[in-house]
Amino acid sequence: MGNNTDENRDKNRSHYEKLYEGQSIDNILVWLRDVDKFLLRSQAKDTSWNALYRQNFKDRLAGKRVVELGCGDCVNAAIMAALGAEVYANDIAKASGVIIDKLNAAYDFKFPIKYVEGDFLKNNLKSNQFDFVIGKAFLHHLTIEEEKEFLKETARLLKDQGEARFFEPAVNSRILDEIRWIIPVKGRPSKLNKNKFKIWKENDPHPDRSFSSRHFTKASKGIFNEVQIIPVGALERFSRIIPYGGLNTKYRIWALNAENKIPSRINKYLTRSQLIIYKKPIQK
Ligand SMILES: C[S@@+](CC[C@H](N)C(=O)[O-])C[C@H]1O[C@@H](n2cnc3c(N)ncnc32)[C@H](O)[C@@H]1O
Repeated sequence: MGNNTDENRDKNRSHYEKLYEGQSIDNILVWLRDVDKFLLRSQAKDTSWNALYRQNFKDRLAGKRVVELGCGDCVNAAIMAALGAEVYANDIAKASGVIIDKLNAAYDFKFPIKYVEGDFLKNNLKSNQFDFVIGKAFLHHLTIEEEKEFLKETARLLKDQGEARFFEPAVNSRILDEIRWIIPVKGRPSKLNKNKFKIWKENDPHPDRSFSSRHFTKASKGIFNEVQIIPVGALERFSRIIPYGGLNTKYRIWALNAENKIPSRINKYLTRSQLIIYKKPIQK
């Protein structure tokens, strides 16, 4: 892999190591008390849960072998394991492994979560054994070069009937993207504030690369025979101009329902995020 990829990986590692270090699992344990309630609420108001758990994903997990890439705070790994899946989870940040150890000690999962330590591209996992490969806000942290290797690895690990599900941001409109960078959001200054933006950018763990739906379709060529892209967040994206709180939540719940009624081409153009589903891996 090139220098750019190595630098990007180091940046991600140190950023997320700090973010997850010493993270408490208390909230996760509360959510695990009633997984249905957690998912119902999260799917109603949050794009990532709304997208990832579409197509009845929750009810398709029991007894299935799943690997989650970039498991981060491990909330999703814990939810999938509590739903009866045999979960393998990897993250470049070792802090995620510590969270998994704590979860396994505190909760009686049918299958304890297995942490896959280190560089996932050097794992020793057998081919053709996983029902699902999952990434929640993961692929867009990779350079295009590294993403290609992860997609090939995903195809190698999946069973023939298996499915990869990635929730990722979407940039399908240059104009909307330009406007997005101008509006400051929590933790990220406006692009117009040049000095502050430069400092923010130096510490930002996202590489400069395409997040378009077209890119994610093209990226699967020669690796998967089937791709489905579901736009999520065409109206929800405007919640960023409503201050955080009750009104913001109400708007997001309304928006995630209402955007299903938008014609698909407009939905795709406006969307802020997407669920990418790859099926029929081409085994080499
Ligand atoms: C935006 S976070 C998402 C975390 C979690 N999936 C969630 O939904 O909250 C991206 C995660 O990808 C991980 N990551 C970035 N590059 C990686 C790599 N090359 N290999 C494994 N994990 C990586 C980061 O450490 C981080 O935990």
